[in-house]
Amino acid sequence: MHYRDLGRTGWKVSEISFGAWAIGGSWGSVDDGESMAALHKAVDCGVNFIDTADVYGMGRSERLIARLKRERTEQILVATKAGRRLSPHTADGYNAQNLTAFIEDSLRNLATDSLDLLQLHCPPTDAYYRPEVFGALDRLVEQGKIRHYGVSVERVEEALKAIEYPNVKTVQIIFNVFRLRPACLFFEQAVRKRIGILARVPLASGLLSGKLTRQSQFASDDHRQFNRHGEAFDAGETFSGVAYETGLAAVEEMRNLLPAGFTMPQFALRWILMFDAVTCAIPGGKRPSQVEENCAASDRPPLPEEAMAAIRRIYDEKIRGDLHQRW
Ligand SMILES: NC(=O)c1ccc[n+]([C@@H]2O[C@H](COP(=O)([O-])OP(=O)(O)OC[C@H]3O[C@@H](n4cnc5c(N)ncnc54)[C@H](OP(=O)(O)O)[C@@H]3O)[C@@H](O)[C@H]2O)c1
Repeated sequence: MHYRDLGRTGWKVSEISFGAWAIGGSWGSVDDGESMAALHKAVDCGVNFIDTADVYGMGRSERLIARLKRERTEQILVATKAGRRLSPHTADGYNAQNLTAFIEDSLRNLATDSLDLLQLHCPPTDAYYRPEVFGALDRLVEQGKIRHYGVSVERVEEALKAIEYPNVKTVQIIFNVFRLRPACLFFEQAVRKRIGILARVPLASGLLSGKLTRQSQFASDDHRQFNRHGEAFDAGETFSGVAYETGLAAVEEMRNLLPAGFTMPQFALRWILMFDAVTCAIPGGKRPSQVEENCAASDRPPLPEEAMAAIRRIYDEKIRGDLHQRW
């Protein structure tokens, strides 16, 4: 496992880290025993950074991570998120009182007195135009409730706006072979300001693992069933917003590009790591075998230029038209 600087936090984090949404819920049934095994496997493989949120299973994901920290001696840094428990989910809700209450709950779930990294959880665009939101986060840092803060965004423009606030240290954004726009505009600015970048949905919700087919079935409580068209939250969070059949066709073409010794998930993850601006990819994994396979991407050699160019061509031909300007 290789490590990269997480922006200006002073931390070096594993370039393949762990996305802890699925172990909380919304991905069909999960078993806490298996989730704990997956978390332990991640640490065994050198992962020292975990991304979670208060809403992932309403505290379930955070509590499993607290248990992991009790059971391990290694330093494990945890990024959590706040805001998605607001109902209705409005910019007004991102105020000092609500944020403080959400953070107190996360502190309890994670069994700690200070959160390592707190991210606003894809707030409405308007929240980025309210300096008082970021002022409230500054005060939470002063009070010692959080060490650093960042944002998780839906759109490139939200990321560009967020990093105008001087104490925003990280941006979490969807970035994968189906989502190239962050690399066009945002990465250059982020590097200039030494912002840590967490590349989320790196496997396009499993599509890029190469295992899904037209016949794949998903449980009714799996967002790949219930949020296909953005019924519950932003459509971009499910399969990266790519139409399922289009995604399958693109994956079939990518299969021909696999360098020797790579599996499909490793190819998708290594592609992300080719971008120096990215701090880490945070693939979700529910099983130890998935985690082990994903972590090994860090030790795979760089992708050949021809493969990078071929991916760009597949993107231009199959994905760009429908997707590029949406986020
Ligand atoms: N708004 C936000 O801030 C936000 C939104 C989305 C995600 N995130 C974060 O980003 C993380 C990653 O994104 P994601 O979980 O949505 O999607 P992802 O990492 O693109 O896909 C994860 C899914 O792919 C499958 N998978 C993983 N490794 C595999 C392997 N080696 N072989 C085959 N299948 C594999 C697993 O599903 P199955 O085994 O069930 O197929 C897994 O749950 C989340 O866990 C969360 O921490 C944040």
